[in-house]
Amino acid sequence: MSTEKKRNSFSGSIGFVLAAAGSAVGLGNIWRFPYLAAKDGGGLFLVVYLVLALTFGFTLLTSEIAIGRKTKQSPLTAYSKLKSGWGFLGVLACIVPMIIMPYYCVIGGWVIKYLVAFVTGEGGIAAEDGYFTGFITANVEPIVMTVIFLAVVAFIVLRGVNKGIESFSKVLMPILVLLVFGIAVFSMTISHTDASGVTRSGLDGFKIYVIPNFEGLTVKGFFSVVMDAMGQLFYSLSVAMGIMIAYGSYVKDDANLVKSINQIEIFDTAVAFLAGAMIIPAVYTFMGTEGMAASGPSLMFVSLPKIFAAMGGVGRFVGILFFAMVLFAALTSAVSIMEAVVASFMDKFRLSRLKASLITIVIALVGGLAVCFGYNIWYFEYTLPNGAVAQILDIMDYISNNVMMPVVAIGTCILIGWVLKPKTVIEEVEKSGCKFGRKQLYIVMVRFVTPVLLLILLLKSLGIVTVI
Ligand code: PHE
Repeated sequence: MSTEKKRNSFSGSIGFVLAAAGSAVGLGNIWRFPYLAAKDGGGLFLVVYLVLALTFGFTLLTSEIAIGRKTKQSPLTAYSKLKSGWGFLGVLACIVPMIIMPYYCVIGGWVIKYLVAFVTGEGGIAAEDGYFTGFITANVEPIVMTVIFLAVVAFIVLRGVNKGIESFSKVLMPILVLLVFGIAVFSMTISHTDASGVTRSGLDGFKIYVIPNFEGLTVKGFFSVVMDAMGQLFYSLSVAMGIMIAYGSYVKDDANLVKSINQIEIFDTAVAFLAGAMIIPAVYTFMGTEGMAASGPSLMFVSLPKIFAAMGGVGRFVGILFFAMVLFAALTSAVSIMEAVVASFMDKFRLSRLKASLITIVIALVGGLAVCFGYNIWYFEYTLPNGAVAQILDIMDYISNNVMMPVVAIGTCILIGWVLKPKTVIEEVEKSGCKFGRKQLYIVMVRFVTPVLLLILLLKSLGIVTVI
């Protein structure tokens, strides 16, 4: 029997859309999107992001899902099946999730730690200065938390495409949307008077978030907003790391890809928008405009616990809901990262799901240990080409996101746009009889605009282009 016949598939388009949205909605939506929106002129960033999502993001997402469904292969083998000699791109696309998986599990472990702290009533202690650093530099606890997170991810992946990925996404994603929506509404109702007697409200914070701020905007500044939005979008849609190829390979041939892709994009963008509506008003109310400069781990694990503590009794409850929501977002993303690797090993080496998963777990564990040690016994400070001071986690993040992902995406555009021609993807999309509405746009985007924008992004990450 051929592997094609045995291949699992999502039971229907809702299962696929929720699994793919589960991958797309992750830490990036929650800790990076709001920060970039606040930094880049609020509504201006939102508009730029939306336009790019409908053009640039749509092109990459469509290409990868179509490649997956057409080849019925995961990234490691899909590219060589599409065109002999292009297998190297599959290898690169498969190495990206291998690098991301370990540190994503470590961060997932941090989220579990904070959720537990809020559940057990220690949220106040978690808000104290030095708590976060104390925790991540500890010898044992971060490792234990990483292992717990990894165990849950592995459990879901081991159950397979239907009983694992699909069924968990169908439960976790709707709950996530309810939570993020509920907290966002709550965020807009709060107000706070600080020590100097200034009262700020969540509603004012929301206005700062959505109303475009053109003050002092230059052409150079605008390009930097475009670059920020593009880098974010790219990461947020989980493209260029084989995930959407793997998930696309589980989509049935009669499914309407156009509709599903639209829904995934809308889902991801809506959750990112809601995350901003949840975080920016809260940060503004309790910390003012200066507080909005925090991003990444320091936003989530330092600023927000302080805000929950300042909310009083209700803060503990909000904290629990918030970290539960972040945990769901991180889990479904980590599941997709692991699946891209597991599916690749299964396809390439004809391994069972169990064997492929065990190998992947070992990679995640070894890498995860290294990331944890990066904060204590292996601590060092390294300055990246983009100027950031980095430890092991940041270096892995930089190599995968800033260097390898743009390379994989540029390679994919060249392969589809020039070597095989866009009809490869267009025929696949139209196979089920659905109308490919943005076909002309797709052709122009995949051949010209997307690779050029990606190249600029790559050169900027490498520190070669510094003007924007
Ligand atoms: N797309 C996810 C986010 O926005 C991140 C992610 C990265 C998911 C890598 C899977 C793999 O946070």
